[in-house]
Amino acid sequence: MQEKYTPGYSSNATNFMAKRSLDTHGAFFKPYLRPGMKLLDCGCGPGTIALGLAKAIAPGTLTGIDREASQIRIAAESAFTQGVSNANFLEGNIYALPFCDNSFDAIFSHALFEHLQEPAQALRELWRVLKPGELLGFVVLTGAGF
Ligand SMILES: C[S@@+](CC[C@H](N)C(=O)[O-])C[C@H]1O[C@@H](n2cnc3c(N)ncnc32)[C@H](O)[C@@H]1O
Repeated sequence: MQEKYTPGYSSNATNFMAKRSLDTHGAFFKPYLRPGMKLLDCGCGPGTIALGLAKAIAPGTLTGIDREASQIRIAAESAFTQGVSNANFLEGNIYALPFCDNSFDAIFSHALFEHLQEPAQALRELWRVLKPGELLGFVVLTGAGF
């Protein structure tokens, strides 16, 4: 499915996203994180929240996925620069995730669902790759100023 992503990938838009962190934008999720988890961040953008997630679950593995190659490149470079070795970043679409059923202990997604035309379809795909009974946390931003 080809959708328009309104914010785009200018340096302004990317720098805006890159100011986010797990502490500022994912604090609600932190109490559920455990060392050793296998965690997916869907729509990870430049990866600043994802790297916080990776640090919180080490030695578990964080996979960040985003449909945009430039964002994946930035996230992977930041992981390398910060010495975060338990994070990997892949290009991919939430509507057809490149993972087997029941792959993850937890899934996080921040500021993606408000951009999707078929959120129910995306949610079904997240359920597919999430182990039964495990943890799904997502934030849908509304309004301006985020
Ligand atoms: C508003 S940014 C949020 C980035 C990051 N989660 C954050 O909060 O800083 C939304 C991200 O979702 C990605 N995205 C949009 N549609 C997608 C899709 N169908 N599958 C995967 N990623 C998608 C965009 O490329 C963008 O990087």
